[in-house]
Amino acid sequence: MKSKIIKILKESNTIISGVEISSHLGISRVSVWKHIKKLQELGYNIISTPRGYQLNNKSPDKFNDKSDLLYPWEFPERESEIHYFQELDSTMNKAREFAKKGYPEYTVIIAERQNQGRGRLKRHWYSDTGGLYFTIILKPEISPRSAYKYNFVTSLVLARTLNEMFHIDAMVKWPNDILVGMKKLSGMLSEMEAEANLVSFINIGIGLNVNNDPTETEPNAVSLKALLCKKVSRKKILSRFLDNLEIKLNNMKESDDIISQWKECSITLNRQVTIVTPKDISEGIARDIDQDGALILELENGLTKKIIYGDCFLK
Ligand code: BTN
Repeated sequence: MKSKIIKILKESNTIISGVEISSHLGISRVSVWKHIKKLQELGYNIISTPRGYQLNNKSPDKFNDKSDLLYPWEFPERESEIHYFQELDSTMNKAREFAKKGYPEYTVIIAERQNQGRGRLKRHWYSDTGGLYFTIILKPEISPRSAYKYNFVTSLVLARTLNEMFHIDAMVKWPNDILVGMKKLSGMLSEMEAEANLVSFINIGIGLNVNNDPTETEPNAVSLKALLCKKVSRKKILSRFLDNLEIKLNNMKESDDIISQWKECSITLNRQVTIVTPKDISEGIARDIDQDGALILELENGLTKKIIYGDCFLK
């Protein structure tokens, strides 16, 4: 009902009376009033006057915090897939719970804030208000050995989406970070579960610095707000990214060379790097990403080392 009320208010340029809304929706005026009150509590700037209600959205094209709400009904094409929470420990935990309960592919868990946001290699992911924190559930019918491709596709699509929307120069860094000018704009974490030789789900969690300021805890991070000198809509980014990801995944063929496409957008190759894995730290030149998604590191002694899991720091 809330989504229907929001739709009516968005479509109406003037004040619309409670009677009109109630007859439109077949509910009582009191019920309309209760929904409006709830929507106001949820952050919608709805003006109530004796003549009725109006959504205060004077310049719809200009960003304002009040119009950047991520409730499911704000994504009309995806309303049933979107699950929004004001605060979670981590969207990864909720996504795992949902995936195990059988929620379908493309279910998205969003949190306004996370109090135990997780990064790679057991790091904490600070998740202040203004950032975009979500996990998407994918359920491809593939063997666990091919699952890594989905991480590469996802980071590639996100980088391309940001470039297309904001004309920035976002690049991917192995394994799945997004950098602009050597500063981290986004990080990605994925979790997979498989049975026998078939993936049950791949949950891909993304933290994107949008209107938050990550630099207090992460000096080498940057936000879109800082890059563009203005706040931007998280809703539009998420919506465009999900559309682009779905198109890319639906058209992906076994023979597609995702790794080559990813490499074209990558900042990692032929650079001096430090690689941290759960076991050790190595230094060298990042020479290649092989067809399994592993980083090929050329060590100082000329030998090469294949790194399957770890983090990469550019020098
Ligand atoms: C990294 O760069 O270390 C990965 C960061 C991943 C952060 C995202 S935010 C949404 C999702 N929930 C989490 O707890 N982590 C991921």
